Amino acid sequence: MADLKIEAVSMTFSLPNGSTIEALKDISLEIAQGELVSVLGPSGCGKTTLLNILAGFLAPTGGQIRLGKTEVTGPDRARGMVFQQGALFEWMSVAKNVGFGPRMAGRPRAEIDARVEGLLQSVGLQGFGDKAVYELSGGMQQRVALARCLANDPDVILMDEPLGALDALTREKMQGLVLKLWKETGKTIVLITHSVEEALLLGERLIVMAPRPGRIHAEYRLPFAARGVGEDLRMVKRLPEFGERRDEILSMIWEMEEEIMGKAEAPV
Ligand SMILES: Nc1ncnc2c1ncn2[C@@H]1O[C@H](COP(=O)(O)OP(=O)(O)O)[C@@H](O)[C@H]1O
Ligand SMILES: [Mg+2]
Repeated sequence: MADLKIEAVSMTFSLPNGSTIEALKDISLEIAQGELVSVLGPSGCGKTTLLNILAGFLAPTGGQIRLGKTEVTGPDRARGMVFQQGALFEWMSVAKNVGFGPRMAGRPRAEIDARVEGLLQSVGLQGFGDKAVYELSGGMQQRVALARCLANDPDVILMDEPLGALDALTREKMQGLVLKLWKETGKTIVLITHSVEEALLLGERLIVMAPRPGRIHAEYRLPFAARGVGEDLRMVKRLPEFGERRDEILSMIWEMEEEIMGKAEAPV
């Protein structure tokens, strides 16, 4: 386990017509081992690009990422990814999905079975191991995705809008699950979200990004994730300071959106 360092990372995409897009410009951030960081920002500000660079799927055009002393140069089991949806193996059972990483790593059968069993329990899916993925609801599928990621015992878990496709009630339950898993495993988690409320709840530290070029606009240290580990999330959301932060950040995002919209034609 080690700290994650984002050092002056830039990403400029070159388009076939010769123009370029500065998706990220000079991003520097240190994320301590075990930290829970949420990243919020309007569409197109480079959140997914940043996560793909952290995962090693994309090489930045400037700067570098390091996990401890090791420079990130490609995908690795040390950095696991949870996508919004659809990244499970539909033709495999739940247990086979969860055990996929350890199986590929050649772990012994008994060890894999025990790990899968433990993880299904952690994510609230005990007894569902033999089910097919398509038999599960969206929320249950995301539970499988979380368990499959944890099965590789990564140092860092990267989540790109993992709860974005879920209905409100399921989403709330899953927010509680993310906090529980964070507490239980002590993993470093970087979570991208569109939802201000979710970013406030699921970030000890919240990074707000701005677009064109994609950059860090503001940063907050927040008490809500730590409280949410032991308390009812609805009570946390009702705290006056939660509401104040939400309004402050909503206004900030609104201003950014208006600035972006202002550059286009006014909506009718
Ligand atoms: N592979 C790519 N080629 C060209 N432009 C890209 C590519 N990936 C992302 N972009 C552009 O980079 C910017 C940031 O995209 P993205 O990281 O997906 O933002 P977000 O996840 O915050 O919505 C956008 O303008 C997007 O169109
Ligand atoms: Mg995105």
